[in-house]
Amino acid sequence: MDSGASRPVTAIYPGSFDPVTNGHLDLITRASNIFDKLVVAVAHNLEKDPLFTEKERVEMLETATFKWVNVEIDIFDGLLMDYARAKKASVIVRGIRAVSDYEYELQMALMNRRLAPELETIFLMPDGKYSFVSSRLVKEVFTLGGSIEGLVPQFVIDRLKARVPTNGH
Ligand code: PNS
Repeated sequence: MDSGASRPVTAIYPGSFDPVTNGHLDLITRASNIFDKLVVAVAHNLEKDPLFTEKERVEMLETATFKWVNVEIDIFDGLLMDYARAKKASVIVRGIRAVSDYEYELQMALMNRRLAPELETIFLMPDGKYSFVSSRLVKEVFTLGGSIEGLVPQFVIDRLKARVPTNGH
């Protein structure tokens, strides 16, 4: 059997990243240490109403990940599995923070497996100190005047300050 051991492995880490958090960056660090190449793929067509445009989300990710030579930031449209095949990836990386993430992630992983059985979804856990951090909560807390220091990079806080009318910042 061909083990494929010498083939470089490309993994895709897809998501909304609206905006990137330190939890995402923790996961990017872990995944970039495991795989030869990691493509962080910003979803283009979201039913959600993003705060930042895809270009802004990409810029923030690029700023946050410039140190990692094997990390590429990209935008994808349509089915993730079509994109992953086009990128010649063999792994999808997703983060699981708590049991509550599991059900949604399992559904997506199994649907994706049905669409592309040759691709494997791998779940990584961020550091426990980020287990409660999500882009949604970061935006909510910031908008209501709470501190999000340590949960996102400082330049993301600066971008939020420029974008969001807040109580108390
Ligand atoms: O960060 P998110 O919002 O949880 O990421 C969800 C994302 C973008 C990974 C997911 O919605 C996705 O893959 N969308 C692309 C469209 C697609 O392939 N849908 C079928 C997934 S089973």
